[in-house]
Amino acid sequence: MNPNNINTEFTLPCGTVIKNRLVKAAMTERISNPNYEPTEGHELLYKQWAKTGAGILITGNVIFDKLHTESAGNVYFGDETMIPKLKKWADAGKTLGHHIWVQISHAGRQTNRFNNRHPLAPSHVKLKKTGLFGKPKVMTEDDIHQIIDGFVKAARITKKAGFTGLQIHSAHGYLLSQFLSPKTNTRKDQWGGSIENRSRLLLQIIRKVRKEVGDDFPISVKLNSSDFQKGGFSEDESLAVINMLNSESVDLLEISGGTYENVAFFMMNDEKTRESTKRREAYFMDFANKVRKLSQIPLMITGGFRSFDFCNEVLEKGELDFIGMGRPFITNQSQIPEFIEGRIPVLENMVIRTGFKSLDEAAEGGYYAIQIIRTSKGKGFKPKLNPLRCAAFLVSHEFRKSLSKKK
Ligand SMILES: Cc1cc2nc3c(=O)[nH]c(=O)nc-3n(C[C@H](O)[C@H](O)[C@H](O)COP(=O)(O)O)c2cc1C
Repeated sequence: MNPNNINTEFTLPCGTVIKNRLVKAAMTERISNPNYEPTEGHELLYKQWAKTGAGILITGNVIFDKLHTESAGNVYFGDETMIPKLKKWADAGKTLGHHIWVQISHAGRQTNRFNNRHPLAPSHVKLKKTGLFGKPKVMTEDDIHQIIDGFVKAARITKKAGFTGLQIHSAHGYLLSQFLSPKTNTRKDQWGGSIENRSRLLLQIIRKVRKEVGDDFPISVKLNSSDFQKGGFSEDESLAVINMLNSESVDLLEISGGTYENVAFFMMNDEKTRESTKRREAYFMDFANKVRKLSQIPLMITGGFRSFDFCNEVLEKGELDFIGMGRPFITNQSQIPEFIEGRIPVLENMVIRTGFKSLDEAAEGGYYAIQIIRTSKGKGFKPKLNPLRCAAFLVSHEFRKSLSKKK
């Protein structure tokens, strides 16, 4: 076995060469200024992350519609006058000559009430979550075309600002993921019904974005393996979408899973995770094997990877092409260069729990949000934070930042 498959190059279908197989997955930064612009905080944060030597750094969600933020503090990619400021962010990510890709997203019904009481969504189906989300407004045909244009414009700005690739966010229950799911998309027109119709928006966006950025610019798609909900987007449907993606020009498929109603993508790192998942370390590996049988698109899984040997093994066996990692880039940042070289065997997994099941998700999210904000201010990682305070932080952040935003 090659002793180190992580530290090897990979050539994407568009011809771009990536220096190694470790990718920092998207993690929302929440640190824009009130004008939705990137700040010195972004530069500091991405200079730090660049030092890890990861082949690609994927930014957190960015938006092209200020009325549909994923989180307060998202950066706006809908206005070309922002390009000089965005360029500084892109440059920070490229400090060591590696890649920085932008994750373009629209939150749809997962936009919280502080930002929009009636967010756009494919259908009227409201998010079942503690009163923080309003009843969605059903999108018209015109709204749908504006979404396509929004993704295309954000892609143009991404490229012009010097970012080296982009990711279309079609996972985690955001707008494109809402279109894919039969639970949230009950439309009777060409955008709803069969899986082909529910995928239409994603496919049109990919085609138009490709036309905009040209053949040699990397495009990634993030997709759920499933929503982990009864009646939601299933594994079989996800495989059907991947089958359709085979005919599109996609350079990297990232697999994750879950929505705000079941945040599988970051709550599966605890003791109660089922045995087969623990054995395979990364949560979506079993699904990856099914994807491999039907698709040649370069493949990455994100969620749970922590040990060098396991990452190395799945690359060696050809089960994956890239390893996506999120939280270790916060908790173990300084160890990552040595991890890539095989000199650190395991990146310690942290589990943040309050003792109250209903607050654990907010505590886990709040803990990492606080750490990202600390890094953006030049402060170090602080392992011990009160989980209950972390939980409270997330909600208060949305509220305070929304008040200061310029619409
Ligand atoms: C603080 C935080 C913010 C996140 N923000 C995003 C995001 O903006 N976009 C996204 O696709 N996933 C986001 N995720 C999910 C991660 O990309 C990743 O799927 C998840 O953390 C599981 O990987 P891990 O076990 O390596 O952390 C976020 C996760 C965390 C912890």
